[in-house]
Amino acid sequence: MSEQRKLYVRSFGCQMNVYDAQRMTDTLAREGYVETDSPDDADLVILNTCHIREKAAEKVYSELGRLRKAQEEAGRQQMVAVAGCVAQAEGAEIIKRARAVDLVVGPQSYHKLPELLAEAEARRSGKAGARAKLVETEFPVEDKFDFLAPPTREAIGKRGPTAFVTVQEGCDKFCTFCVVPYTRGAEVSRPLAKILDEVIRLADGGVREITLIGQNVNAYHGLDAAGRPANLAELVRRVADVPGIARVRYTTSHPRDMDEELIAAHRDMPALMPYLHLPVQSGSNRILAAMNRKHDRELFFEIVARVREARPDIAFSSDFIVGFPGESDEDFADTMDLVERVGFASAFSFKYSPRPGTPAAGMEGQLPEDVKSARIYALQALLDRQKAAFDEACRGRRFDILLEKPGRFPGQLIGRSPYLQSVVVEAPREAIGTLARVEVREVSTKSLSGDILGGEFFAGRPIGETRFIGQSEKLEA
Ligand code: 5AD
Ligand code: SF4
Repeated sequence: MSEQRKLYVRSFGCQMNVYDAQRMTDTLAREGYVETDSPDDADLVILNTCHIREKAAEKVYSELGRLRKAQEEAGRQQMVAVAGCVAQAEGAEIIKRARAVDLVVGPQSYHKLPELLAEAEARRSGKAGARAKLVETEFPVEDKFDFLAPPTREAIGKRGPTAFVTVQEGCDKFCTFCVVPYTRGAEVSRPLAKILDEVIRLADGGVREITLIGQNVNAYHGLDAAGRPANLAELVRRVADVPGIARVRYTTSHPRDMDEELIAAHRDMPALMPYLHLPVQSGSNRILAAMNRKHDRELFFEIVARVREARPDIAFSSDFIVGFPGESDEDFADTMDLVERVGFASAFSFKYSPRPGTPAAGMEGQLPEDVKSARIYALQALLDRQKAAFDEACRGRRFDILLEKPGRFPGQLIGRSPYLQSVVVEAPREAIGTLARVEVREVSTKSLSGDILGGEFFAGRPIGETRFIGQSEKLEA
């Protein structure tokens, strides 16, 4: 191991970038890098970028400009790497435009970071003094996951009782608005056994909740030990069976890939949380077809009904795009109507933003900004009302929360409900990582708060001894 150096990683965008940042950090830990939370004292800065929506690339360039200025002011020698989807999409352009950058590395090459950095360093200290640059944006044939280092026990402990695990990457759906098939490449599933090894390791380090992630996670079809493809339902079952794992989630799904087995898993597996993020994007069949979504509104309604039948207490979340090229007032009214009919516990909504190289960017009927703004305003107001109504309906309900971290005030912890709501309770720090039975008392726009009735940490202890309000109650299985 070489001398200790400091690493600062800044991640933008989705959960997969959060996961990638952790794996890059774990891999570089083996090279002697320790994490720091400020770019100012870092020897290496990695910007882990996102390209899904507007101005992502511009944001990266201005961040790089700021970095360069700070470097100059402080007379600092610092390596800078740009990773993630902007790195993939822009490639050498980044090196041309941003002088601070030593290395551009696409998402499929993270396992090569140690050697790429060593090479970039060598070039940088080359005789001519010129900062020759490196760009690595190939889609290599080897599986990067075989080369990325797993987290140490200490790193797992620091990251808390919930963890993301990438199980599938890339997408073959080619929605006409989306850059993912170009930046993350074709759909690839990791083998079942490798995912389970990772989950066992995480569980051993104290993780209780696993979120299986992938751009198209329910298209998962990784090979099992016998060389047969396993689906997501099977993977969820196997992950839930790992000792210590109490909860499983998965995201993001495509409506087309919600198969019977996965729906049945929601009925049969208490560890699978009753919360489903299922992007629909639009409520208009005309727009869904132009988006190449491969489903219509009727299929979406049918899936929602089937999942609700299997798991009546399930809550839905979704993604919406307004102002797709050619979207008329009627099309938008169809989206509002779909939202009214389904009822969402939460949702993300975006104004359409043309992504270079995608089919929709060249379509006729691009809409002016003011139309997009008016539509997103109306849609978000409706979604906010639905979220508020869902949260309000939780008042007085009892459910298990997973205690994750200290709250704002001494004596408080924050946990997550099955529906991903933040729940504030009074509990000692030692209870972090345990499930607590809670009755929801107050509801605000940001979080819920509640009284602990019992739970893993409190089992067998008189509640009075641990300063809790409420009475002990046996945790339901
Ligand atoms: N414009 C606006 N939103 C987009 N999304 C993906 N591509 C675009 C785009 N070009 C949204 C979709 C997707 C989410 C991750 O980002 O709603 O589900
Ligand atoms: Fe993009 Fe569509 Fe694939 Fe989702 S399903 S990642 S929106 S192309």
